Amino acid sequence: MDLDKTIKARRSVRKFKSSKPNWRDILECIDAMRYAPMAGNNFSIKTILVDEEDKIKEITEASQQSFVGQVEYILVVCTTPSRTETSYGEKGKIFLRQQAGAAIQNFLLKITEKKLATCWVGYFSEKEVKRILSIPEEMQVEALFPIGYSMQKPELKRKLELDAFLYFNEYGNKKMNKIQKIDA
Ligand SMILES: Cc1cc2nc3c(=O)[nH]c(=O)nc-3n(C[C@H](O)[C@H](O)[C@H](O)COP(=O)(O)O)c2cc1C
Repeated sequence: MDLDKTIKARRSVRKFKSSKPNWRDILECIDAMRYAPMAGNNFSIKTILVDEEDKIKEITEASQQSFVGQVEYILVVCTTPSRTETSYGEKGKIFLRQQAGAAIQNFLLKITEKKLATCWVGYFSEKEVKRILSIPEEMQVEALFPIGYSMQKPELKRKLELDAFLYFNEYGNKKMNKIQKIDA
């Protein structure tokens, strides 16, 4: 799939088929995270691929979202604070969240390309997820991703038009200057 098609085909999926994905495909999707930009090239992400039924059940309870439990695999994405925070202090805390998002988007696009399906689940009890998976206290659990095959392709959610969030040269200015207009 080309990049433009993949970007536009991505959806949050909350209804999964019962068939089990090939774990090698999932590993390829996780591998795509390695190529995301990271401040100072400090890779700050740890992932846990969960396939044990009892843990999937417990994680589902921790998220209070029943669709999370429809699958055979859940990927849990965490950040390790140490190196980025040591190098960049308070700003490093922000970098950690930003670069997790960049890595997650790589993962989501690869999931789409592989015709797998998932949903970014950000609402869950972090304390509970840490307990279930023995995640060290100093880590941050960023998100959960139930992974399966989509039961049906969800409609594209309403997306903002470009002109709703693009300004030129100054915040709030929607007009391109003359030279840019002539070049276009
Ligand atoms: C940070 C973040 C947290 C989210 N948390 C949840 C969640 O807990 N449960 C859920 O069903 N969807 C969650 N979503 C998915 C959004 O609801 C979804 O991306 C949005 O509705 C747009 O739909 P689309 O992804 O199909 O374009 C989350 C998305 C993001 C980026």
